[in-house]
Amino acid sequence: MNIIDIINKKRLGKELSYKELEYAFLGYLNKQHEDYQMSSLLMAIVINGMTLEETIDLTDIFIKSGDVYDLSSIDKNIVDKHSTGGVGDSTTLIVGPIVASCGLKMAKISGRGLGITGGTIDKLESIPNFDVKLTKREFLHNLKTVGFVDSSQTTNLVPLDKIIYNLRNNSGTTESLPLIVSSIMSKKIASGADIILIDIKVGKGALVKTKKDANLMSRWMKEIGVHYNKKVVTIITDMNTPLSNSIGNALEVEEAMQVLKGKDCKLYEVSKEISSILISLAKNISMEEAQEEVEKSIISGRAYNKFLEFVKSQKGDIKKLKIDANIKVIKSKYNGTLKEIDALKIGRLALKLGAGKINDRETIDYSAGVKLYKNIGDKVKKGEILATLYTNKNIKITEDDINCFEIN
Ligand code: URA
Repeated sequence: MNIIDIINKKRLGKELSYKELEYAFLGYLNKQHEDYQMSSLLMAIVINGMTLEETIDLTDIFIKSGDVYDLSSIDKNIVDKHSTGGVGDSTTLIVGPIVASCGLKMAKISGRGLGITGGTIDKLESIPNFDVKLTKREFLHNLKTVGFVDSSQTTNLVPLDKIIYNLRNNSGTTESLPLIVSSIMSKKIASGADIILIDIKVGKGALVKTKKDANLMSRWMKEIGVHYNKKVVTIITDMNTPLSNSIGNALEVEEAMQVLKGKDCKLYEVSKEISSILISLAKNISMEEAQEEVEKSIISGRAYNKFLEFVKSQKGDIKKLKIDANIKVIKSKYNGTLKEIDALKIGRLALKLGAGKINDRETIDYSAGVKLYKNIGDKVKKGEILATLYTNKNIKITEDDINCFEIN
């Protein structure tokens, strides 16, 4: 077998066998192939796709590249959730504390930003001293004692996804249904939860652009769940507009804290839906009962306190969370109604401001990002503030960069 033949086979749109996928991907992990060879194969996959069988095989190869956690001694209905990637999506920081404060255990392995979409690990790292690199022992201990734990892939948990994820981010190969499915599902299966909810984001600011692809992704993820004897549920939610009014790592942590303190907004609605589904499945109660539990956890302050406990358990110092960037204001040029906030353009703008990175030479500015002050449907007056931009980069912001709002 050789890597060039495998790249060419996929370039011609042919199906790869388990052995060929293993040779290519495990070979890359073992440094037998070069970055440019794996990038070519990934691009051929982006262009020509993979079958469900190939995707299940790739997921399996990812899982077997490292440890698989057995959480059965901790609880029998451990839950997990994952978003396929969006702009301003900090639901994990809200759902984890809510469900843990309602007595569930949520074991989560998260990723970094991918393309224009944010990653939970970057958001958590904006909290000074927060430890995202937990050992297996620490992960299990926190799950048992706090009820919510969130870690990056340690060297032993799906190490193959970790390096492929980074390569995809740096090679324009993020938007591929089979690559997204195998990346997410391998982490979900390996980290050991029994009930897995996948929030498939669809729209301009998502990695998945069409409802058709979202439906197919949902079907494949459920098939993989059946394959590994896991309960997989999916929801499909809009990502044409940013999910929250804050985009950028520390800004999103602040916003998540406001939601946990009772702020009512779209981010809360989606978080409530995800939390209620998980609680209803894990406790075998109706959605109405589960929603009531969610509301009570917010009103009583239990969910917010659980967030503080979670941050402390991973050594984070929330009091030191800072947004110490320079600020630029975007004002409306027109009177009218806000018709659209383009999630893709906002995501690109946040990336340019430094909230994410497109290669390994760059570093993330945790304070960077965008804060939005108006929602779709709001009346806007000429000169009113639409957004503030936060950055420490010495960059020129052009009219095109901030052309994210449609007002008429
Ligand atoms: N989240 C992941 O973990 N992987 C992807 O490919 C996309 C979103």
